Amino acid sequence: MTSAKFPLLVALALTGFAGALFGSAGESQAVDWSKVQGKDITLLYPAQMSWELVLTQAEHSGASKFREGKNCRGCHEGNEDSSGDLMVGDKSIEPTPIAGKSGFVKANIKLAHDDQNIFVRVEFAPGKQPDAKMDPKVDSRVAVMFDDGKVTEFARGGCWSACHIDNEKMPKGAEGVSMYLPKSRNGMTREGGGVVKPADELAKIHAEGGYAEYWEASLNPGVPATVIDGTVLEKRQENATPAVTANAAFENGKWTVEFTRKLAAGEGRKDIGPGKLYTFGLAIHAGHTNKRFHYVSLEKTFTIDAGNGDFIVKKAP
Ligand code: HEC
Repeated sequence: MTSAKFPLLVALALTGFAGALFGSAGESQAVDWSKVQGKDITLLYPAQMSWELVLTQAEHSGASKFREGKNCRGCHEGNEDSSGDLMVGDKSIEPTPIAGKSGFVKANIKLAHDDQNIFVRVEFAPGKQPDAKMDPKVDSRVAVMFDDGKVTEFARGGCWSACHIDNEKMPKGAEGVSMYLPKSRNGMTREGGGVVKPADELAKIHAEGGYAEYWEASLNPGVPATVIDGTVLEKRQENATPAVTANAAFENGKWTVEFTRKLAAGEGRKDIGPGKLYTFGLAIHAGHTNKRFHYVSLEKTFTIDAGNGDFIVKKAP
């Protein structure tokens, strides 16, 4: 990559073609990524380990400590690989294992901004992935889900706050029940569910920012990535038009995916700026999988310019 800064509009216009034009890893040229410090994280295969199970002491010895205030990462960071290896083939938590699937994937994450946009770059090698044939049209997908401190459960447990025992393909799953946040329900139990709050209450929670935002890029080698974004409150709700763009390329067994979004992207999107702690989680679907058959990260944090996030997002060099 060169350090030349293309005007952003040009960079955006080249979205999807940048890889082909520059023979590079599909990046927008708005950021010289070689000058941005990245961090390696490990995403684990979570099987059917739902929010409800992790909150039940009889199923998970971390439950009471979690309830007392210790976050997931406080016990699990550094052991994602062995946790994933354990769950990917354990019939008690994964009733339909995918033969030959690895229990974890490592990714390198870099973030930057240019006062207008935030850039999130995810690089990962999926390794040998058996073809699960669940989603024949999509090889891999990368998703980022985040919150700006408005959703307590997300700040504590990252993506697990949206992962429930009654989601589709989960033990008590009903078709069409997508991810949701606990605050969208009354009377949730060990079996998840509860009753979805009335529309006016949900609208109030949404207006106060009590939702998680997600971006997702669908990837096939050699073709431009497609991208969607949306929110999660009582369900996963895709936006009609995404505010985020994505560039991606597959080279030497490695995916490089770069998301770009305006820091202030308007209604239904979280404003991103200094002075706040953002919690995010990453998900990777590899080997033509869908739904829960993905790898996920523990909760990670970022702050803009300064602060104490895992990632301090600086102005792009
Ligand atoms: C106080 C420490 C602690 C906290 C906090 C904690 N866990 Fe655990 N977790 C454990 C231990 C110990 C195990 C080992 C198996 C068991 O005892 O259930 C475990 C097991 C697991 C497993 C099964 C895989 C494995 O490695 O055994 C998953 C998945 C998991 N925890 C997820 C979570 C999530 C998600 C959170 C936060 C919502 C969380 N844990 C919070 C201690 C903790």
